[in-house]
Amino acid sequence: MPKSSNKTPKPSQNGQSPSIESILAEKRLFKPSKKFSEQARISSMAQYEKMYRASIKDPEKFFAKQAEELAWFKKWRKVVEWKAPFAKWFIGGKINAAYNCLDRHLSTPRKNKAAIIWEGENFEQRVLTYAQLHREVSRAANVLKSLGVKTGDRVAIYMGMTPELAIAVLACARIGATHSVIFGGFSAEAIRDRVNDAEAKLIITSDGAYRRGTIVDLKRNVDLALRTEAMMIDGKSQPYGGCPTIEKVLVVKRTGQDIDMFPGRDIWWHEAIKDASHDCPAAELDSEHPLYILYTSGTTGKPKGIVHTTAGYLLGTYLTTKYVFDIRDEDVYWCTADVGWVTGHSYILYGPLSNGATVVMYEGAPTYPAPDRFWDIIERHGVTVFYTAPTAIRAFIRAGNEHPNKHDMSSLRLLGSVGEPINPEAWMWYHTVIGKGKCPIVDTWWQTETGAIMISPIPGAIPTKPGSATLPFFGVEPEVVRKDGTPCKPNEGGYLVIKKPWPSMLRGIYKDPERFEKQYFSEYPGIYFTGDGARRDKNGYFWIMGRVDDVINVSGHRLGTMEVESALVGHEAVAEAAVVGRPDEIKGSALVAFVTLKQGWPPDETLKERLRGHVGSMIGPIAKPDDIRFTDALPKTRSGKIMRRLLRELASTGAVAGDTTTLEDFSVLEKLRAGEEE
Ligand code: WT7
Repeated sequence: MPKSSNKTPKPSQNGQSPSIESILAEKRLFKPSKKFSEQARISSMAQYEKMYRASIKDPEKFFAKQAEELAWFKKWRKVVEWKAPFAKWFIGGKINAAYNCLDRHLSTPRKNKAAIIWEGENFEQRVLTYAQLHREVSRAANVLKSLGVKTGDRVAIYMGMTPELAIAVLACARIGATHSVIFGGFSAEAIRDRVNDAEAKLIITSDGAYRRGTIVDLKRNVDLALRTEAMMIDGKSQPYGGCPTIEKVLVVKRTGQDIDMFPGRDIWWHEAIKDASHDCPAAELDSEHPLYILYTSGTTGKPKGIVHTTAGYLLGTYLTTKYVFDIRDEDVYWCTADVGWVTGHSYILYGPLSNGATVVMYEGAPTYPAPDRFWDIIERHGVTVFYTAPTAIRAFIRAGNEHPNKHDMSSLRLLGSVGEPINPEAWMWYHTVIGKGKCPIVDTWWQTETGAIMISPIPGAIPTKPGSATLPFFGVEPEVVRKDGTPCKPNEGGYLVIKKPWPSMLRGIYKDPERFEKQYFSEYPGIYFTGDGARRDKNGYFWIMGRVDDVINVSGHRLGTMEVESALVGHEAVAEAAVVGRPDEIKGSALVAFVTLKQGWPPDETLKERLRGHVGSMIGPIAKPDDIRFTDALPKTRSGKIMRRLLRELASTGAVAGDTTTLEDFSVLEKLRAGEEE
């Protein structure tokens, strides 16, 4: 939530956020090349503006027309119903997302076209055509049915990036089971929280996953999440609830490592699927049927289960893939995200597959076995559209140009960026070293909540400026506003809001309508508040400045400071903890934890490592603080609120902490108290 009244929001949590000076100084403008524009679906600014205006003037008419490109079992009665904060789209329609991604291509020449070109970390290759993927998804769907999964049940999926992950997701969609994919980097505790919140009936996992040459023990984490006997936690035996709603665990064999299989509960995927029929008609689902839940960090200790429904979400991902990536049948499209995040849901699966595109799916780490792995994949598969994150780009810059320069990447025609603001230096490197100056860059701003891209260049039409996500997508009405809701002047920093509902918007937080309303629609009644700060320049271009709430963007992934704090105070040594972001050259932001210890605990390196390990086991490795600083007290306002702003300054400048790892003296800060009420 916005914190400072009347003042320009200071999204200081994201190290790479653009400053007003850099925005004003940015004079570079990259027009789409004639060659690109000529072949593009939308080939001029005038054409974009005309479509955009039409989409805003009469969204019902605009989206009704676009929705005709999807395959419906039954047409909708009404395009949209908006009773803020609750939206319904394509009311009365019957549709199936998996049918739109698979079946409808089977009567076209796409039938035997590659849907997924998969590459394992160890260079294995698997190609699934649309017909083959359809067959596998149908068989898996029959397995789910045979295990008692019904339309409306929730299925948790905790897997590495193998084709079975895509198959599992689409199999759920096929029968109308709501999937909840849990990123493979999350810990047992995080799995348990998510599974229990969603009351999932089944978990689909695999024995292990390959990552950076090692194995992640996925099944073991699931076993830990499910165990019910008391467990030693921090030296104390604590009762442990497990996941009471889980009936079965379906296990894909990937690594072949030794795992425990619990009879009656655990089932091998390959055995279950062996005799499954490939005949499984797609369920005819209501437009508003919940397609999935995806948990994301918010400003409290508990992650939010973001709910997306079927028709509107599918339309949003379909349309943005079509226009932002200007996807065509000849493309080899590669989005480097993990299906465990929303980017993977929308832009590895639903968006590209509903467009009948060929998708590259890569299992492993970007730099394994060498820093040129991504460029090697682009060269070998002839990737034409490449979509990755600024944090990866910055890591590649540091690794050196010799790695991309070794490879022929002339197949590339379009580049995309997502996850955090891309700093102009990284943008220029992407443009020149990877795109060789000929590929437009689409810097796509969106969120788990928005489901699909909201602000982005349309590559054949909108000239780009390094660091700006440029202009809104069709039907999206963003505005930068002041605390009081009045619109900001050009270049004035403010809060980014979306004024009208859009088809792929979240339909709620699972089982928590109050939090949904409070989180997104209470700051500006009836208007969606994004949690981001932004500016709009004189040309109407949007410059996203990063989060203005207690959410930190670490390597393009969202982490709630409260979540990490509650993990820390869950350790027996910790009395109090405050977590803030510090600018980091590669990750955008790094996590710094200020920790006060209980009596008798030595503030040493061993304890730091233990605390980092503890956070890793409570949430996952991505949440481990980069830096832990022990302190005698946390600076607080008179009302007892931790002064995060101050801590952020300390964390990034080290002004008080200096080189020492313990904050020496808060008496300086004491003096500030009076003036520093947040
Ligand atoms: C937050 C959403 C959207 C998929 C990946 C992250 C930041 C995302 C951009 C961009 C500036 C961006 C925002 C947003 N963000 N894309 N192109 N430019 N910031 O999804 O985990 O839901 O995070 O990521 O701060 O609010 P997410």
